[in-house]
Amino acid sequence: MADRPYTLLSCGMSIDGYLDSATAKRLLLSNDADFDRVDAVRASCDAILVGANTVRNDNPRLLIRSPERRFDRVARGRGASPVKVTVTSHGELDPCASFFTAGDTEKLVYCPGASVSAVRRRLGPVATVVDAGQPLDIRRICEDLSDRGVQRLIVEGGGSIHTQFLTADLADQLDLVVAPFFVGDSRARRFVGDGDFPWNAQRRAPLAEVRQIGDVVLLQYALSSRFGMD
Ligand SMILES: NC(=O)c1ccc[n+]([C@@H]2O[C@H](COP(=O)([O-])OP(=O)(O)OC[C@H]3O[C@@H](n4cnc5c(N)ncnc54)[C@H](OP(=O)(O)O)[C@@H]3O)[C@@H](O)[C@H]2O)c1
Repeated sequence: MADRPYTLLSCGMSIDGYLDSATAKRLLLSNDADFDRVDAVRASCDAILVGANTVRNDNPRLLIRSPERRFDRVARGRGASPVKVTVTSHGELDPCASFFTAGDTEKLVYCPGASVSAVRRRLGPVATVVDAGQPLDIRRICEDLSDRGVQRLIVEGGGSIHTQFLTADLADQLDLVVAPFFVGDSRARRFVGDGDFPWNAQRRAPLAEVRQIGDVVLLQYALSSRFGMD
């Protein structure tokens, strides 16, 4: 088996476990200090992965915000921001989305083999479209990223993506931030969906750190023996 990057899942959720509200307006779960912490974690990574719904709903830029961190990365021979990665079945993504247009970092789009031609026609001018198997195989994506030199990957959601990384046992670390409010609407997306998780009542996930960051709390779980590796 090919190697895979050290994989850190990063997520903010409400007290009742939601990633977002059910409305079109984006829900801010973190505070400024925590956004800055995430910026530092991103800066330590070679690639950032989000699902296609997150690209469509949130239109994230996925760039390092701090000029000092960007400068430091460039001084060490890396891109100013990590490579951006997304996953889609049919590539129904806007080529003008910030994912594709913000920053000069490389963009990778993984899709099932049967969709590659169509996705390349749509997104080929703005991203590298990669065959991820038929059906799409998350482990294969991790191995391909490793082959492309990605040693450290941050996965920033949404729920479908977190569910797949966790149930496939492909996560080394989970950084879960709990915001001090409830969403209280089951139409909203939860942190994870149904699945057979390696961490359950019989096998509890090791809690590595608890940190208060203003009004949010960071829970850091060590999900593999590689936890903490640089
Ligand atoms: N609070 C946070 O930290 C945080 C972070 C990120 C996102 N979010 C929120 O999470 C929500 C989105 O979560 P989500 O679960 O709906 O979506 P998601 O995980 O962002 O993306 C799911 C999409 O990714 C593609 N995909 C995932 N697995 C695939 C597979 N095995 N094969 C083919 N395609 C696959 C599909 O795209 P296609 O539909 O294109 O086929 C699928 O619809 C948004 O509301 C966002 O605001 C919150």
